[in-house]
Amino acid sequence: MAKRYLIAGNWKMNKTSGEAKALVEGIVAAVGKQTSVDVAVCPTFTSLETASKALAGSSVKLGAQNMYPKPSGAYTGEISADMLLDFGCTYVVLGHSERREYFKETDEFINEKVKSALSAGMKPILCVGETLEQREGGSTIDVVSKQVLGGLKDVPASQAENVVVAYEPVWAIGTGKTATPAMAQEVHAEIRKNLVSLFEEAGNNIQILYGGSMKPENAEALLKEKDIDGGLIGGASLKADSFASLVNTAISLSK
Ligand code: PGA
Repeated sequence: MAKRYLIAGNWKMNKTSGEAKALVEGIVAAVGKQTSVDVAVCPTFTSLETASKALAGSSVKLGAQNMYPKPSGAYTGEISADMLLDFGCTYVVLGHSERREYFKETDEFINEKVKSALSAGMKPILCVGETLEQREGGSTIDVVSKQVLGGLKDVPASQAENVVVAYEPVWAIGTGKTATPAMAQEVHAEIRKNLVSLFEEAGNNIQILYGGSMKPENAEALLKEKDIDGGLIGGASLKADSFASLVNTAISLSK
């Protein structure tokens, strides 16, 4: 089966809702009709409604950047899966390294979120990745495997088709440094093994995205690798033309 790419924009803490509207409109105008590649934008919570309206009727899907695992209750400042679904979110980014680092999120907590998102019918994009220190210390594969197995613990194989994993080496995020295609593929192949150990055959169909300074200049070489099924894009997702260019690269590789 030919792989199906997913190009997802992680906007992080950028864009007011007016700016989000303009960006979504630009993306929809450029790549909102094609259906050969999955495309998603993940704005801040405060721009979800505006973005949802601006992408209505297009093939571009909506995602959020985080959620709380409980359905409702006394959790001041938090947002549930049902609240995201209410705005038409298909995806939710979970366990991003910025959340692991600045908000002390653990694999156990991220696992609760993953299960809650899946039960609600959303597609979690589980982010994993090693720090520079861990890479230099030779523990990349152990670190990443632990994050994958921990984040997906007790997820039934019947829900595997809704899981997405993003490999994002921490040292490559927002730094302009990208893993070489071979370095990324090596880790993606290990993640694939983990997914097959968890979900058997279904693990072969899970999209594994690369993230970390992916941009129009380096996307093609990365996306050509066997187990790289798309990208989670930060900086280059904040401009319609660069994001559309990444989508177009994935479209041309799908042919
Ligand atoms: P970057 O961010 O593309 O700006 O490196 C990727 C991410 O953190 O998801």
